[in-house]
Amino acid sequence: MRILAIESSCDETGAAVLDDGKLISNVVQSQLIHSDFGGVVPEVASRIHIRAIVPVVRKALEEAGVGIEAIDFIAVTVGPGLIGSLIVGVAFAKALALAMKKPVMGVDHIESHIAANFLTYGRIDEPFICLVASGGHTHLFFVEGTSLELLGCTRDDAAGEAFDKVARMLGLGYPGGPLIEELASRGNPKAIEFPRPVKLKGYEFSFSGLKTAVRYYIDGIGREPSKQEAADIAASFQDAVLEILVDKTISAARERNLGSVSAVGGVASNTLLRQRLSHAAEKAHLKVLLPPPELCTDNAAIVAAAAHLKLAAGEKPSSDLIPYSTRAY
Ligand code: KG4
Ligand code: ZN
Repeated sequence: MRILAIESSCDETGAAVLDDGKLISNVVQSQLIHSDFGGVVPEVASRIHIRAIVPVVRKALEEAGVGIEAIDFIAVTVGPGLIGSLIVGVAFAKALALAMKKPVMGVDHIESHIAANFLTYGRIDEPFICLVASGGHTHLFFVEGTSLELLGCTRDDAAGEAFDKVARMLGLGYPGGPLIEELASRGNPKAIEFPRPVKLKGYEFSFSGLKTAVRYYIDGIGREPSKQEAADIAASFQDAVLEILVDKTISAARERNLGSVSAVGGVASNTLLRQRLSHAAEKAHLKVLLPPPELCTDNAAIVAAAAHLKLAAGEKPSSDLIPYSTRAY
């Protein structure tokens, strides 16, 4: 079963080919222009997807060494994401499917992030806890096969969004996560005691208070932070975010009596998060599932993987695809 997958939910145009569960090509084109604006400009993102989608799909087929006629299924991200960006991918996938007489299947973006585990570890029979931490989501799931149970999510900003906003406050570019991570490596994570959210129920998250605390701290300096001050702010902020993410993920696995935890989504490409989650999991005698960084950030390989799992579970493809910007899990 050969799947061609297409991803255009935010600012990455992606196409990938999966052959019987094995990844044979994965092309990602990132829209660097958003760095000039300090965040993704939805209108600009859609326009770039329109230009990028044909060359990216062509390249994915070329790298896989197959023509479109050799594809059995087309899979595409239907949401959540930026609606204009999603429409480009969905309309393209539907048109291609119609022209080539291929079945097409819509895939949820969060299910795709979680399916990065399948690409990395193969079929996972045991249920596990999965943290999805990206620019739009901070969701903690109980995962069993293709079924998801949401345990909790953020009340306000997503973790990646907080990284992006703090990066902006420090005059860094976009996406903020890797830039904060790099700056933080030169700072002291214990330099500033930023507040950890209290009074959150169960597995809820909140990052807006932390973001505001960083804003007040920078304003309190009364001038542009020095290089060392900026590095200390980045390190102390990152320390707070990672502590929250790791603690809740481990607690969920303990409470549910599970043997494994996973982290996916753009924030899960953070080296320190990976180290701290691995360390905490080892202490708690848990197995840790961490797909490689390139499968944590947005790409089409994970879309193909999610489609593969859905098809294997007996789900039927349908060309009735309506993009959605949000969804309650
Ligand atoms: O999953 P993703 O590529 O796209 C969405 O679905 O949102 O995640 C992008 C988010 C951005 O907010 C970005 O700043 C964050 O992931 N991110 C990181 C790192 N790399 C990307 N956050 C922290 N550390 C990183 N190394
Ligand atoms: Zn994503």
